[in-house]
Amino acid sequence: MTAPAAPAPAVPGMVTLSIEGRTVSVAPGTSILEAAKHAGILVPHYCYHPSLPVAGVCRMCLVEVEKFPKLAPACATAVGEGQVVHVHSDKAREARKGVLEFLLINHPLDCPVCDQAGECELQDYTFAEGRKDSRYLEPKRFNPMEDFGGDVLYVPNRCILCTRCVRFMDAVAHEPVLNVSERGDRAFIGRDPGADLTHAWAGNVVDLCPVGALLSKDFLNKARAWELDRTASVCPGCSQGCNIMVETRDETVVRLRPRPNADVNVHFMCDTGRLDYRWLNRRDRLEYPMVRDAGGALVATDWDAAVSRAAALVRGAGRVVVLASPSLSNEALFVLGTAADAVGAPKRYVLPRGPEAPLAGVKDLALRAERAANHTGAERLGYGEAQAPFDGLGAGDVVVVADEHLLALQPLALPAGVTAIVAGTVVPAWAADACAVALPITTFAEEEGTFTNLRGRVQRYVQAKTPPTLARPGFLVLGELAAALGAPRPAPLASAVFDALADTVPAFTGLRWARLGLRGLPLLEPAEVGA
Ligand code: SF4
Ligand code: SF4
Ligand code: FES
Repeated sequence: MTAPAAPAPAVPGMVTLSIEGRTVSVAPGTSILEAAKHAGILVPHYCYHPSLPVAGVCRMCLVEVEKFPKLAPACATAVGEGQVVHVHSDKAREARKGVLEFLLINHPLDCPVCDQAGECELQDYTFAEGRKDSRYLEPKRFNPMEDFGGDVLYVPNRCILCTRCVRFMDAVAHEPVLNVSERGDRAFIGRDPGADLTHAWAGNVVDLCPVGALLSKDFLNKARAWELDRTASVCPGCSQGCNIMVETRDETVVRLRPRPNADVNVHFMCDTGRLDYRWLNRRDRLEYPMVRDAGGALVATDWDAAVSRAAALVRGAGRVVVLASPSLSNEALFVLGTAADAVGAPKRYVLPRGPEAPLAGVKDLALRAERAANHTGAERLGYGEAQAPFDGLGAGDVVVVADEHLLALQPLALPAGVTAIVAGTVVPAWAADACAVALPITTFAEEEGTFTNLRGRVQRYVQAKTPPTLARPGFLVLGELAAALGAPRPAPLASAVFDALADTVPAFTGLRWARLGLRGLPLLEPAEVGA
């Protein structure tokens, strides 16, 4: 007897099926769970994650497929031509209700004190599909909380043994230090003897954990999920340019988390970038434009007075050097460049460096040695890296310093007699005595703009919180200085400045702010620029 012939594909090269009455065509080999996403249908799941190997251990994704003898796990079942899938049939929902009941047998009802409450998939699916009550009267299992090392705490009572954390450390970090220890209702996530989660990317297990079993020590008890405002942004920690969410509570940044971008960071971010946000909440910020008065003190003034004083100092200087942070936005670097060009000043930057830490299981993803967001943008905009940025300067010369990143320069000293004009979030200690004008600018969390990552991808970030008092975005402040020095006055919008930049700088040809979206677009290759 011969097997019946497979039905001819309705769409050539694709597999067409029906999920909850919606017809969808996907590539062969796609799982039913991913196909359902294309159809706009969420199949409940715990152990499945698109960036991890499929495990099929939680059974939360059971769906009914017509002509299948039993329910199928949607994460581990490939689509078939003509399949008819029911996600919300009585049979499928009853099975998932049973899965939830088992998961909740030993799960504590401590949502009121759990950090994950409000963003917990166990809460969400129980609310959507679970039983209204528990039939379990016996005492629940108890295991004490454990410090897993790094930024991670493990609360075994809440663990549903989905193994996402184990698979991340194994298949993505390539440091298999976690395991499932014991069996049955005694099972828990264990660490290999002597090992812990001090890996540079281990913090991702907290995001991956669908419940509150893995917690960030840094974020512990800081905020409830529903109190947070979330803003799409780009990590400024290194030149990788990971896409992130800046999470704020009452205008205070309390957490950074990765935002998916298949072209840059997939679903991940490193611990260095994740935990480096406290500087965004500094209370000692420069809040007013300031100028040095006759008595030698820096005193607050208005914008016009400060900008004209800065322009006068630049015009009256012997030599002028512009020293910009490679973490300024493309827009700020562009308008600062027009100011430098107007007076013939060289454009320099200093690049802080640190050890590189790749995420072994993801191609081209690493905490980069270049610890600044936009040195590629700076280079394409005509700035040059300098080891000794003040070389050649002396009495009567002026250095225009832009952005706080230059705090890294603290061991350097300005030559005697050099005057500094500082556009920054603070006045760096090394420039405090020489600073004649200080212009307060915003951090990346307080403005919108773009960075260019090391692969030449231009990515937008969005304003997440209000700036202090009179601080303004760097491109606005530096644009005023440029205009005072005779350069064209830039438009007062980051979008318009970016479009002007794209019209002017060959490497940015063809880009438009409106087309960047929130995942970015690549620059032209250097060869194409020269063509
Ligand atoms: S700790 Fe979280 S991610 Fe790890 S197995 Fe338990 S529930 Fe899953
Ligand atoms: S790799 Fe770089 S950009 Fe990505 S999170 Fe870490 S510091 Fe930030
Ligand atoms: S998500 Fe499919 S079995 Fe866990």
